[in-house]
Amino acid sequence: MIFSPKKLLLGAAVLFSGFSGLALADDCEQGPWQDVTSTGASTGGPYCATKWKSGTVITGVEVWANDKTVRAIQFYFSDGTNSQQWGKPDGNKHARMDWDSAVDQIGQIKTWGNGKGQSLGRVYIRTKSGKELDVGKDTSGQDTFETNVASGVMLGAFGTAGDVIDSLGFIFLKSKIEKITVSDIVFDETPEALNAQQEGLDTVILDYADHTNDHPEANETFTFGKSETRTATKKYSTTATHTFGWSNAIELSGKILDLGASSTTTLSYGYSNAQTEESSTENSVTLTYTVATMLKPGQRVFCRATAMGGKYKGDYSSNINIWLEDGDTFTFTERGTMEQVNWSKASSVCQDKDFDPVTGPTEGKKRRAIKFLA
Ligand SMILES: *[C@@H]1O[C@H](CO)[C@@H](O)[C@H](O)[C@H]1NC(C)=O
Ligand SMILES: *[C@@H]1O[C@H](CO)[C@@H](O)[C@H](O)[C@H]1NC(C)=O
Repeated sequence: MIFSPKKLLLGAAVLFSGFSGLALADDCEQGPWQDVTSTGASTGGPYCATKWKSGTVITGVEVWANDKTVRAIQFYFSDGTNSQQWGKPDGNKHARMDWDSAVDQIGQIKTWGNGKGQSLGRVYIRTKSGKELDVGKDTSGQDTFETNVASGVMLGAFGTAGDVIDSLGFIFLKSKIEKITVSDIVFDETPEALNAQQEGLDTVILDYADHTNDHPEANETFTFGKSETRTATKKYSTTATHTFGWSNAIELSGKILDLGASSTTTLSYGYSNAQTEESSTENSVTLTYTVATMLKPGQRVFCRATAMGGKYKGDYSSNINIWLEDGDTFTFTERGTMEQVNWSKASSVCQDKDFDPVTGPTEGKKRRAIKFLA
């Protein structure tokens, strides 16, 4: 042996900045990451597997190898798609590992060269929950190259490949997420159109009574009234929270559609006055009504209490802003869904004739209410 055996046995670890032979394909070039390294040789054509610009992360890695080198590699994304396959998927060693980015991140990555400075020899990846992928040649005696996994959120992978995987490096979100905000919300539907169609709005009968004063001579005061509780909810779903494993609240801003009480007893769609909203709210609404009617002997009365309930589900476009603990932010566009349930105040009416069945909203079909106080 003429050369230092150690040098010969090692794969080459290269830094982005110091390495000119590695031409990086577009989206792997610059982004919210740092200290990126790769293992292997600079031969082969460059590849880049990332969708970070659309807020999509890597959630699966598949590796093929033989006793000498890593032969092929493929990546899977959080949006359900996959990268192309690089190299030739053959050899006697093969494994695929997938993880759920909503609850799991990468804890450690180690890579080795082929021992001759020619290609990638072996890959070891472990998630924080303990899942492992370990594919490649016997690397005993070789140097191990550890990837800085930073936040553990894998944004991409890159390297060079031909018939084998010449080199491989991983790109990680450089710092933990401080908060996620959703801005510039624009709904597909307008309040005007939804109101015109009374979309999802229904009048609900809370209570009904048919009462007669059976006393032969005494007047009777009949009181129709109750209090009951319903739930009002508003919830926004964005896939970004799952993708980036974010379980805390997100702030929302923009032209936020809202289903609220336009007057006391009817609901209608409008835009929220709030500058920002929470991603999820739930309130109890107490529906209270009471009417006292004075009935003469033998007089009969029909009473009914109603409230308007509204149920909406609609989509919007927005910008998702990822704020990192180190002060940087990045933004991508995303579509989301909002679901809301709300209630108007209750109203009650007593009259001398029975009610028509409720069909649709009561608004615009005002019924004659008769006052019974003599
Ligand atoms: C019932 O009420 C009416 C109106 O207030 C009153 O004129 C009448 O005397 C009352 N009848 C009885 C039996 O109290
Ligand atoms: C329901 O409507 C009321 C009145 O407009 C509004 O203040 C409230 O925020 C709404 N509740 C939910 C959960 O959307």
